[in-house]
Amino acid sequence: MPLMQAVSSVSLAGGQGKTTVVLFVARLLAEQGRTVLVVDADPQSSLTTFLGHQVEPESPTLLEVLKKQVGTEDGIYKTRYNNLFLIPSDDALDTVQDYLAGSGTGAFTLKRRLATVAHLFDYCIIDAPPQRSQICLTVIGASDALVIPVETSVKGLQSLIRTLELIGELRDDQEAFDGDILGVVPFRDRWVGLRRTTESESNIESMQQITQEWFNQDLVLPSIRESEKFKQAINRGQTLHEMGQGELAYPIEVLVKKIEQLE
Ligand SMILES: Nc1ncnc2c1ncn2[C@@H]1O[C@H](COP(=O)(O)OP(=O)(O)OP(=O)(O)O)[C@@H](O)[C@H]1O
Ligand SMILES: [Mg+2]
Repeated sequence: MPLMQAVSSVSLAGGQGKTTVVLFVARLLAEQGRTVLVVDADPQSSLTTFLGHQVEPESPTLLEVLKKQVGTEDGIYKTRYNNLFLIPSDDALDTVQDYLAGSGTGAFTLKRRLATVAHLFDYCIIDAPPQRSQICLTVIGASDALVIPVETSVKGLQSLIRTLELIGELRDDQEAFDGDILGVVPFRDRWVGLRRTTESESNIESMQQITQEWFNQDLVLPSIRESEKFKQAINRGQTLHEMGQGELAYPIEVLVKKIEQLE
């Protein structure tokens, strides 16, 4: 019987690659025969859209699951891909913030809801919203491990520090997170020919220094290259391998290996 491991993609700014990481990691795990539940915990609902799922007016989403208006299983839908299931969201998810804040133990709400389906899936991959919100807290609280995508830019570095501060608060003050940090994935790493640009180079070095200071080790993983091919793959619903761009999938493959080592 599988016992689900939950991994979230968290980063406290927009456009850091959170949803991209969730999408490609979940699809690769599913292709490798794992049973995967993805949870769209962002009211922007990009992940729901990327997976080609349409939320019908009366059909339950993550909102109803969190509020316990339905059982968790009732919020889970098949996707067009084998082994890949989704708890979708739409912009109404934003209204759950007050519910989570009012419950007093909001950081544990998603964890409790997912516990009832943990026997059905090998992995749960969760897409977090970009703000430091109640939804973000409950996502981190539900996680056995986190991956932090960070754009290779100054904005990305600032986001990384804010994200590490939040994780630290949840770990030390609220005891809502005691999982692993799988690593930081530099996003939109720019190369010209065979050389990384000096800007990308210096930003990735900063990421290494920051993780070194926080964890006494370099937690920076292989980067996701700046490439239109990712956007094309997302738009076509294809994997990078299906696009004939297998070499771009290396950072995703490394992440999947790390996830498979969790226990
Ligand atoms: N390798 C890539 N190179 C350039 N752009 C990319 C790449 N992969 C994805 N993108 C694009 O970058 C944008 C941001 O990526 P993504 O949506 O994954 O970030 P996010 O952190 O989830 O953002 P948000 O916080 O708004 O949800 C998307 O429009 C996506 O299509
Ligand atoms: Mg996103």
